[in-house]
Amino acid sequence: MSILGVESVVFGVSDLAEHTRFWTDFGLSLDSAEPDESMFRLASGSRVILRPHGHPGLPEPDPFAGDGIKETVWGVDTTDNLERIAASLASEVPVTRDADGTVHAVCPDGQPIALRVWDKRVVVSEASPVNTPGSYPRFNQHRIWRARAIPKTINHVVFFSTDYVGSFEFYERHLGFRYTDHSKGTGIFARADGTFEHHSIFWVNADLPIAPDHFKFMHIAFGMDDIDEVMLGANQMEAKGWKNESMNSSGGISRHRISSAIYYYCDIPGKAGEAEYHADTDYLDDNWVPRAWDFRFGSLLWANNAPPIFRGDNIPWDMQFDANRASFEPYRKTHPGKQPTSDPTLARLTADDEHAI
Ligand SMILES: [Fe+2]
Repeated sequence: MSILGVESVVFGVSDLAEHTRFWTDFGLSLDSAEPDESMFRLASGSRVILRPHGHPGLPEPDPFAGDGIKETVWGVDTTDNLERIAASLASEVPVTRDADGTVHAVCPDGQPIALRVWDKRVVVSEASPVNTPGSYPRFNQHRIWRARAIPKTINHVVFFSTDYVGSFEFYERHLGFRYTDHSKGTGIFARADGTFEHHSIFWVNADLPIAPDHFKFMHIAFGMDDIDEVMLGANQMEAKGWKNESMNSSGGISRHRISSAIYYYCDIPGKAGEAEYHADTDYLDDNWVPRAWDFRFGSLLWANNAPPIFRGDNIPWDMQFDANRASFEPYRKTHPGKQPTSDPTLARLTADDEHAI
Protein backbone atom coordinates (compact mmCIF):
# COMPACT_ATOMS: atom_id res chain seq x y z
CA MET A 1 0.00 0.00 0.00
CA SER A 2 1.10 3.54 -0.52
CA ILE A 3 -0.56 6.64 0.86
CA LEU A 4 0.87 9.78 -0.73
CA GLY A 5 -0.30 12.24 1.93
CA VAL A 6 -3.30 14.46 2.60
CA GLU A 7 -5.33 14.80 -0.61
CA SER A 8 -7.80 17.12 1.10
CA VAL A 9 -9.15 18.27 4.42
CA VAL A 10 -12.82 19.17 4.88
CA PHE A 11 -13.57 21.87 7.42
CA GLY A 12 -16.95 22.41 9.01
CA VAL A 13 -17.26 26.15 9.73
CA SER A 14 -19.76 28.56 11.23
CA ASP A 15 -18.76 31.59 9.12
CA LEU A 16 -17.82 30.58 5.58
CA ALA A 17 -16.89 34.11 4.47
CA GLU A 18 -14.58 34.67 7.44
CA HIS A 19 -12.82 31.32 6.98
CA THR A 20 -12.47 31.98 3.24
CA ARG A 21 -10.84 35.33 3.98
CA PHE A 22 -8.47 33.68 6.49
CA TRP A 23 -7.16 31.05 4.07
CA THR A 24 -6.88 33.57 1.23
CA ASP A 25 -4.75 35.81 3.49
CA PHE A 26 -2.76 32.73 4.59
CA GLY A 27 -1.62 32.38 0.98
CA LEU A 28 -3.80 29.59 -0.40
CA SER A 29 -5.18 29.85 -3.93
CA LEU A 30 -9.00 29.92 -4.10
CA ASP A 31 -10.04 27.34 -6.70
CA SER A 32 -13.81 27.73 -6.41
CA ALA A 33 -16.25 29.68 -4.26
CA GLU A 34 -19.91 28.68 -3.98
CA PRO A 35 -22.51 29.91 -1.49
CA ASP A 36 -22.05 26.70 0.54
CA GLU A 37 -18.43 25.76 -0.19
CA SER A 38 -15.00 27.29 -0.72
CA MET A 39 -12.18 25.20 -2.14
CA PHE A 40 -8.47 26.03 -2.11
CA ARG A 41 -5.84 24.11 -4.05
CA LEU A 42 -2.09 23.90 -3.41
CA ALA A 43 0.75 23.25 -5.84
CA SER A 44 0.79 19.58 -4.77
CA GLY A 45 -2.89 19.29 -5.75
CA SER A 46 -3.93 19.02 -2.09
CA ARG A 47 -7.12 20.88 -1.25
CA VAL A 48 -8.59 22.73 1.71
CA ILE A 49 -12.39 22.56 1.52
CA LEU A 50 -14.66 24.72 3.69
CA ARG A 51 -18.32 23.84 4.25
CA PRO A 52 -20.85 25.36 6.64
CA HIS A 53 -22.15 23.20 9.49
CA GLY A 54 -25.05 21.05 8.35
CA HIS A 55 -23.71 20.70 4.78
CA PRO A 56 -24.57 17.24 3.42
CA GLY A 57 -20.91 16.77 2.45
CA LEU A 58 -19.78 16.79 6.09
CA PRO A 59 -19.56 13.59 8.15
CA GLU A 60 -22.62 12.63 10.13
CA PRO A 61 -22.57 12.46 13.11
CA ASP A 62 -20.33 15.46 13.68
CA PRO A 63 -17.09 14.17 15.30
CA PHE A 64 -16.84 17.20 17.62
CA ALA A 65 -18.66 20.47 18.31
CA GLY A 66 -17.52 23.69 16.67
CA ASP A 67 -15.29 24.55 13.73
CA GLY A 68 -12.38 22.41 12.51
CA ILE A 69 -11.35 19.60 10.18
CA LYS A 70 -14.24 17.15 10.14
CA GLU A 71 -12.78 14.73 7.59
CA THR A 72 -9.22 13.97 6.47
CA VAL A 73 -8.92 12.53 2.97
CA TRP A 74 -5.78 10.49 2.28
CA GLY A 75 -4.55 10.17 -1.30
CA VAL A 76 -3.63 6.66 -2.49
CA ASP A 77 -1.35 5.87 -5.43
CA THR A 78 -3.34 3.11 -7.17
CA THR A 79 -6.81 1.56 -7.29
CA ASP A 80 -5.38 -1.79 -6.18
CA ASN A 81 -3.87 -0.21 -3.08
CA LEU A 82 -7.09 1.66 -2.35
CA GLU A 83 -8.97 -1.66 -2.49
CA ARG A 84 -6.44 -3.33 -0.20
CA ILE A 85 -6.77 -0.54 2.37
CA ALA A 86 -10.57 -0.54 2.11
CA ALA A 87 -10.67 -4.31 2.71
CA SER A 88 -8.37 -3.97 5.69
CA LEU A 89 -10.47 -1.19 7.21
CA ALA A 90 -13.66 -3.18 6.62
CA SER A 91 -12.28 -5.98 8.79
CA GLU A 92 -12.52 -3.65 11.80
CA VAL A 93 -14.88 -0.72 11.10
CA PRO A 94 -17.83 -0.01 8.76
CA VAL A 95 -16.77 1.32 5.35
CA THR A 96 -18.92 3.26 2.89
CA ARG A 97 -18.30 4.39 -0.68
CA ASP A 98 -19.19 7.32 -2.89
CA ALA A 99 -20.10 6.89 -6.54
CA ASP A 100 -16.60 8.09 -7.50
CA GLY A 101 -14.97 5.30 -5.47
CA THR A 102 -13.98 7.41 -2.45
CA VAL A 103 -13.90 5.24 0.68
CA HIS A 104 -15.13 6.61 4.02
CA ALA A 105 -14.66 5.22 7.53
CA VAL A 106 -14.53 6.43 11.11
CA CYS A 107 -11.50 5.44 13.19
CA PRO A 108 -12.09 4.01 16.69
CA ASP A 109 -10.89 7.33 18.17
CA GLY A 110 -13.72 9.13 16.33
CA GLN A 111 -11.73 10.56 13.40
CA PRO A 112 -13.67 10.47 10.11
CA ILE A 113 -11.29 9.58 7.27
CA ALA A 114 -11.63 9.03 3.56
CA LEU A 115 -9.34 7.60 0.90
CA ARG A 116 -9.27 8.10 -2.83
CA VAL A 117 -6.85 7.56 -5.70
CA TRP A 118 -4.77 10.70 -6.09
CA ASP A 119 -2.59 11.99 -8.92
CA LYS A 120 -0.32 13.96 -6.60
CA ARG A 121 1.75 16.65 -8.28
CA VAL A 122 5.47 16.75 -7.62
CA VAL A 123 6.55 19.98 -5.91
CA VAL A 124 10.23 20.89 -5.87
CA SER A 125 11.03 24.08 -3.98
CA GLU A 126 14.31 25.93 -3.86
CA ALA A 127 15.61 27.81 -0.87
CA SER A 128 18.59 30.11 -0.66
CA PRO A 129 21.84 28.42 0.41
CA VAL A 130 22.90 29.25 3.98
CA ASN A 131 26.23 30.96 4.59
CA THR A 132 28.27 30.36 7.73
CA PRO A 133 31.72 31.67 8.75
CA GLY A 134 34.19 30.03 6.40
CA SER A 135 31.49 28.28 4.37
CA TYR A 136 29.51 30.47 1.98
CA PRO A 137 27.70 28.56 -0.77
CA ARG A 138 25.75 31.79 -1.49
CA PHE A 139 28.91 33.64 -2.57
CA ASN A 140 28.22 36.94 -4.35
CA GLN A 141 24.47 36.27 -4.25
CA HIS A 142 21.71 37.75 -2.15
CA ARG A 143 18.94 35.61 -0.71
CA ILE A 144 15.66 34.93 -2.57
CA TRP A 145 13.23 37.85 -2.27
CA ARG A 146 9.52 37.02 -2.11
CA ALA A 147 6.49 39.29 -2.44
CA ARG A 148 4.30 36.98 -0.38
CA ALA A 149 4.24 33.59 1.36
CA ILE A 150 2.70 30.72 -0.61
CA PRO A 151 2.15 27.33 1.09
CA LYS A 152 3.13 24.53 -1.32
CA THR A 153 2.03 21.31 0.39
CA ILE A 154 0.00 19.95 3.29
CA ASN A 155 2.65 18.38 5.51
CA HIS A 156 0.59 17.10 8.42
CA VAL A 157 -2.63 17.22 10.41
CA VAL A 158 -2.94 16.98 14.21
CA PHE A 159 -5.80 15.71 16.35
CA PHE A 160 -6.43 15.20 20.04
CA SER A 161 -7.17 11.55 20.82
CA THR A 162 -8.43 9.81 23.95
CA ASP A 163 -6.09 6.88 23.05
CA TYR A 164 -3.22 8.33 21.05
CA VAL A 165 -1.23 5.08 20.95
CA GLY A 166 -4.34 3.20 19.83
CA SER A 167 -4.95 5.87 17.17
CA PHE A 168 -1.49 5.27 15.75
CA GLU A 169 -1.84 1.48 15.92
CA PHE A 170 -5.11 1.62 13.96
CA TYR A 171 -3.41 3.69 11.23
CA GLU A 172 -0.49 1.28 11.21
CA ARG A 173 -2.72 -1.80 10.94
CA HIS A 174 -4.86 -0.56 8.09
CA LEU A 175 -3.15 2.39 6.39
CA GLY A 176 0.47 1.24 6.73
CA PHE A 177 1.64 4.35 8.57
CA ARG A 178 5.17 4.31 10.05
CA TYR A 179 6.08 5.15 13.63
CA THR A 180 8.43 8.16 13.54
CA ASP A 181 8.76 9.55 17.07
CA HIS A 182 7.04 9.54 20.47
CA SER A 183 6.71 12.61 22.68
CA LYS A 184 6.33 10.55 25.85
CA GLY A 185 2.88 10.83 27.39
CA THR A 186 2.03 13.56 24.92
CA GLY A 187 1.68 12.18 21.42
CA ILE A 188 2.87 10.01 18.53
CA PHE A 189 4.16 11.19 15.16
CA ALA A 190 3.52 8.92 12.18
CA ARG A 191 4.34 9.05 8.48
CA ALA A 192 2.31 7.87 5.51
CA ASP A 193 4.36 5.24 3.69
CA GLY A 194 4.35 7.17 0.40
CA THR A 195 5.79 10.37 1.88
CA PHE A 196 9.14 11.45 3.28
CA GLU A 197 8.04 14.26 5.61
CA HIS A 198 8.83 13.51 9.27
CA HIS A 199 5.15 13.04 10.01
CA SER A 200 1.86 13.16 8.15
CA ILE A 201 -0.22 13.01 11.32
CA PHE A 202 0.32 13.62 15.05
CA TRP A 203 -2.09 12.47 17.73
CA VAL A 204 -2.00 14.46 20.98
CA ASN A 205 -3.01 12.84 24.26
CA ALA A 206 -6.46 14.16 25.24
CA ASP A 207 -5.63 13.37 28.90
CA LEU A 208 -3.25 16.35 29.04
CA PRO A 209 -4.42 19.32 31.14
CA ILE A 210 -4.17 21.60 28.10
CA ALA A 211 -6.26 19.28 25.92
CA PRO A 212 -10.00 18.78 25.44
CA ASP A 213 -11.18 15.48 26.95
CA HIS A 214 -12.44 14.22 23.61
CA PHE A 215 -11.44 13.75 19.97
CA LYS A 216 -10.85 17.09 18.29
CA PHE A 217 -8.90 18.80 15.53
CA MET A 218 -5.81 20.70 16.69
CA HIS A 219 -3.81 22.04 13.72
CA ILE A 220 -2.74 21.63 10.10
CA ALA A 221 0.76 22.36 8.75
CA PHE A 222 1.75 23.64 5.30
CA GLY A 223 5.15 23.26 3.66
CA MET A 224 7.06 26.51 3.02
CA ASP A 225 10.43 27.02 1.33
CA ASP A 226 12.46 28.30 4.27
CA ILE A 227 12.48 30.45 7.39
CA ASP A 228 12.25 33.63 5.29
CA GLU A 229 8.96 32.52 3.79
CA VAL A 230 7.64 31.49 7.22
CA MET A 231 8.52 34.91 8.65
CA LEU A 232 7.04 36.70 5.64
CA GLY A 233 3.79 34.79 6.09
CA ALA A 234 3.75 35.51 9.83
CA ASN A 235 4.23 39.22 9.23
CA GLN A 236 1.58 39.34 6.53
CA MET A 237 -0.97 37.52 8.68
CA GLU A 238 -0.26 39.79 11.61
CA ALA A 239 -0.60 42.88 9.40
CA LYS A 240 -4.02 41.65 8.28
CA GLY A 241 -5.14 41.34 11.89
CA TRP A 242 -5.09 37.56 12.33
CA LYS A 243 -4.22 36.53 15.87
CA ASN A 244 -1.83 34.05 17.35
CA GLU A 245 -3.11 33.85 20.89
CA SER A 246 -3.95 30.19 21.41
CA MET A 247 -1.59 28.13 23.59
CA ASN A 248 -0.16 26.49 20.52
CA SER A 249 0.33 29.76 18.66
CA SER A 250 1.57 32.02 21.40
CA GLY A 251 5.18 30.87 21.25
CA GLY A 252 5.75 32.82 18.05
CA ILE A 253 8.27 31.48 15.58
CA SER A 254 10.51 28.64 16.72
CA ARG A 255 12.02 25.31 15.79
CA HIS A 256 10.97 21.93 17.17
CA ARG A 257 13.73 19.58 18.31
CA ILE A 258 11.54 16.65 17.25
CA SER A 259 11.29 16.91 13.43
CA SER A 260 13.72 19.90 13.33
CA ALA A 261 10.97 22.01 11.73
CA ILE A 262 10.68 25.78 11.81
CA TYR A 263 7.10 26.74 12.63
CA TYR A 264 4.68 29.60 13.09
CA TYR A 265 1.01 29.07 13.98
CA CYS A 266 -1.95 31.30 13.13
CA ASP A 267 -5.29 30.95 14.92
CA ILE A 268 -8.00 29.77 12.52
CA PRO A 269 -11.29 31.70 13.00
CA GLY A 270 -14.01 30.24 15.18
CA LYS A 271 -11.47 28.80 17.65
CA ALA A 272 -11.10 26.00 15.12
CA GLY A 273 -7.41 25.34 15.83
CA GLU A 274 -4.27 26.56 14.13
CA ALA A 275 -2.76 26.84 10.66
CA GLU A 276 1.00 26.26 10.71
CA TYR A 277 3.65 27.62 8.38
CA HIS A 278 6.26 24.84 8.36
CA ALA A 279 9.79 24.72 6.92
CA ASP A 280 13.06 22.75 7.03
CA THR A 281 11.50 19.65 8.58
CA ASP A 282 13.32 16.31 8.65
CA TYR A 283 12.70 14.13 5.59
CA LEU A 284 13.13 10.39 6.07
CA ASP A 285 12.27 6.88 4.97
CA ASP A 286 12.13 3.41 6.52
CA ASN A 287 15.79 3.67 7.54
CA TRP A 288 14.67 6.09 10.26
CA VAL A 289 14.90 4.75 13.83
CA PRO A 290 12.00 6.02 15.96
CA ARG A 291 12.86 7.97 19.10
CA ALA A 292 11.11 8.65 22.42
CA TRP A 293 11.46 12.11 23.94
CA ASP A 294 10.72 14.08 27.08
CA PHE A 295 7.96 16.28 25.67
CA ARG A 296 9.60 19.55 26.77
CA PHE A 297 13.01 18.58 25.42
CA GLY A 298 11.52 17.48 22.12
CA SER A 299 9.20 20.41 21.66
CA LEU A 300 11.43 23.45 21.42
CA LEU A 301 14.93 23.96 20.17
CA TRP A 302 14.48 27.69 20.73
CA ALA A 303 11.56 30.07 21.05
CA ASN A 304 11.11 33.78 21.50
CA ASN A 305 8.13 33.38 23.81
CA ALA A 306 7.54 29.74 24.74
CA PRO A 307 4.29 28.90 26.50
CA PRO A 308 4.98 28.33 30.23
CA ILE A 309 4.48 24.58 30.04
CA PHE A 310 7.58 24.32 27.84
CA ARG A 311 9.83 26.54 29.96
CA GLY A 312 12.16 25.66 32.83
CA ASP A 313 15.79 25.38 33.75
CA ASN A 314 15.74 21.66 34.48
CA ILE A 315 14.48 20.19 31.24
CA PRO A 316 16.36 16.91 30.84
CA TRP A 317 18.19 16.07 27.61
CA ASP A 318 16.01 13.01 27.39
CA MET A 319 15.83 11.09 24.12
CA GLN A 320 16.11 7.33 23.52
CA PHE A 321 15.95 5.35 20.32
CA ASP A 322 12.73 3.41 20.49
CA ALA A 323 12.69 0.78 17.75
CA ASN A 324 11.33 -1.78 20.24
CA ARG A 325 8.59 0.66 21.37
CA ALA A 326 9.56 0.36 25.01
CA SER A 327 8.19 3.88 25.47
CA PHE A 328 4.65 2.61 24.77
CA GLU A 329 4.71 0.32 27.83
CA PRO A 330 3.87 2.84 30.59
CA TYR A 331 0.95 4.07 28.51
CA ARG A 332 -0.23 0.59 27.62
CA LYS A 333 -0.42 -0.38 31.30
CA THR A 334 -3.18 2.19 31.76
CA HIS A 335 -4.69 2.02 28.26
CA PRO A 336 -4.85 -1.62 27.07
CA GLY A 337 -4.68 -1.69 23.28
CA LYS A 338 -7.03 -3.50 20.97
CA GLN A 339 -4.26 -5.80 19.82
CA PRO A 340 -0.47 -5.85 19.84
CA THR A 341 1.26 -4.05 17.05
CA SER A 342 3.51 -5.86 14.65
CA ASP A 343 5.97 -3.43 13.16
CA PRO A 344 7.36 -4.55 9.80
CA THR A 345 10.56 -2.61 10.41
CA LEU A 346 11.23 -4.60 13.60
CA ALA A 347 11.52 -7.81 11.63
CA ARG A 348 14.69 -6.46 10.03
CA LEU A 349 16.17 -5.28 13.30
CA THR A 350 17.95 -7.84 15.45
CA ALA A 351 18.74 -7.41 19.12
CA ASP A 352 22.38 -6.82 18.17
CA ASP A 353 21.35 -4.05 15.79
CA GLU A 354 19.42 -2.38 18.53
CA HIS A 355 22.43 -2.58 20.81
CA ALA A 356 24.56 -0.87 18.18
CA ILE A 357 22.19 2.08 17.71
FE1 LIG B 1 2.64 20.81 13.42
